[in-house]
Amino acid sequence: KRPAGAPDAKLARPVTKVGVVGAGLMASQLALLFVRRLSVPVVITDLDQSRVDKGLAYISGEIDKLHSKGRMSQDAVNRAKALVTGSVTKDAFADADFVIEAVFEELNVKKQVFAEVEAVVSPECILATNTSSLSVTEMGRDLKHPERLVGFHFFNPVAVMPLLEIAATQWTNESSLSTAFVLGKKLKKTTVKTQDAAAFVVNRVLLRLMSEVQAAFDEGTDAATADSALTPMGLPMSPFTLLSMVGLPVAQHVNESLNSAFGDRFVVSENLQKLIDAKITALWVKDEQGAQVLN
Ligand code: CAA
Repeated sequence: KRPAGAPDAKLARPVTKVGVVGAGLMASQLALLFVRRLSVPVVITDLDQSRVDKGLAYISGEIDKLHSKGRMSQDAVNRAKALVTGSVTKDAFADADFVIEAVFEELNVKKQVFAEVEAVVSPECILATNTSSLSVTEMGRDLKHPERLVGFHFFNPVAVMPLLEIAATQWTNESSLSTAFVLGKKLKKTTVKTQDAAAFVVNRVLLRLMSEVQAAFDEGTDAATADSALTPMGLPMSPFTLLSMVGLPVAQHVNESLNSAFGDRFVVSENLQKLIDAKITALWVKDEQGAQVLN
């Protein structure tokens, strides 16, 4: 059955090489998913070689973990590792037909990335953004070919979270949108078409809850109490564990984007900022025995 809002799958174009802009946590998780599910060459890029190497090492380590759990055969491991490469220049995307960015959540950074990508890829190459809180339309405004831009939003951890939000802008053509839906299915994700508005649909709801927790934190509730009170409410992960997994600086940046889009409905937490200023990027960390402890 065709997902609601998805154009005819016959309009989809083949994806034979994928480019991922960024080699951070989300970008590396995306590269792993693409290589595992599509078995096509995947190239990641970042600003310098050490970031690229860190991303490649993460991907390789996750592939080894999947192998040791019996989820990937030795052949699949060898194939996947050979298919993922890294580069510090976007020239490596020249023959890609799908490029997704997962760089810093800042509109101008993303616009700059797409301008650089457009300079090397073919006009048919689909451009996708994994933004969680910015407008896809704004990213498309200065593109030469905005008809190939889609929002393609995954959730962390990418390997296990089932949902993929796909957003079109006023310019996105049916073929690009169809390719995005077909690709989402190949990646074994549940695809939904969302409106192109800050935070799409899931984060508007999920992050409202996270926002209230941070407001309580600012008003004096300690993080461990909030977590132990909320965990029995059926959340898959306690709020401060989730914030720690996302990373406090990234979480605060998302707070700022949502605050500018929706005002006081989303707080920019003062206490979170104090932790970030003290260079604390996670509230909960694992100790040597693997138990969760407050940082
Ligand atoms: N990377 C890869 N795999 C992971 C993982 C990670 N970071 N964390 C867990 N997994 C895997 C485990 O390896 C395990 O796989 P196997 O079955 O093969 O062993 C599987 O997930 C289940 O893990 P666990 O049994 O250890 O833990 P769990 O049952 O508690 O599930 C979870 C883990 C799925 C992450 C669950 O805690 C959860 O759903 N948490 C909420 C996550 C969430 O809300 N994400 C959205 C974040 S916000 C966001 O991403 C949006 C944004 O744009 C800012």
